Amino acid sequence: MTSSPSLGYTESGPSGGGRGGSGDNDDDDIVCLESFFVNRNYEVSTFTFGSHVIPLFCLQSASTDYDLTGQLVWPGAILMNNYLSKNAEILQGHSVIELGSGVGITGILCSRFCNEVVLTDHNDEVLEILNKNIELQRSSGTIVSAGLNAEKLEWGNHCHLDQIKQKYSNGFDIILGADICFQQSSIPPLFYTVTKLLHSIQCHESKFILAYVSRSKSMDAMVMSEAHKHGMKINEISGTRTIISNLFGVVYEITLN
Ligand SMILES: C[S@@+](CC[C@H](N)C(=O)[O-])C[C@H]1O[C@@H](n2cnc3c(N)ncnc32)[C@H](O)[C@@H]1O
Repeated sequence: MTSSPSLGYTESGPSGGGRGGSGDNDDDDIVCLESFFVNRNYEVSTFTFGSHVIPLFCLQSASTDYDLTGQLVWPGAILMNNYLSKNAEILQGHSVIELGSGVGITGILCSRFCNEVVLTDHNDEVLEILNKNIELQRSSGTIVSAGLNAEKLEWGNHCHLDQIKQKYSNGFDIILGADICFQQSSIPPLFYTVTKLLHSIQCHESKFILAYVSRSKSMDAMVMSEAHKHGMKINEISGTRTIISNLFGVVYEITLN
């Protein structure tokens, strides 16, 4: 894949996205190179889960130091989508919020069964490709039974969460997360957000479905302990344990005690 970065600055100063100005202040030396490094060379790939074919703009590999993990489809999403496509009855007619959606492959599959699907991510670059993928589903004539929207949600951010709860005042029956446990510092805010969402749901059967891919024993332990710390029960869904991309993966159903 070739990359065609757009240069975000000129010799006389930044042009778009840059932070420097024309005055005599210290910012004169700051040139924002972010747009130079970000790869936006998305191509449409097609993913198939049972009878469901999903076209998606995505990258094939990550290539920057920025937090752009969401530009590509991760093994946990494949694990999650295989599980959901075989058990679509658990989604039928429900409202779903997905955390850390990336390019949106999981939420987009859900939109074929659910009433309402809200795809979320904290990264603006990722939200842009997520919106492009929502548009792609609509323009490709796929039957989407749900309201399908993307919203900004950073785990642990009260304002983002309150805005979502206000906008979607009927709440959500199911919270989904695919391959979102890969950085230890983000696990406490992730579980904090999940707890807040579960508590705001009226229905007793509300749950957090997590497609987990194990990359370290310390992360395995942290996920378990964080769930227990927040008064949650974490159960492995039988038949989901698998090896994916040479890693151990499993789907967990997490509920409030
Ligand atoms: C490894 S990717 C997984 C993407 C997608 N679920 C998949 O499996 O293909 C992790 C996603 O979580 C998002 N993310 C990471 N930290 C986050 C945070 N603190 N708040 C919200 N989203 C976050 C990233 O932007 C990225 O889209």
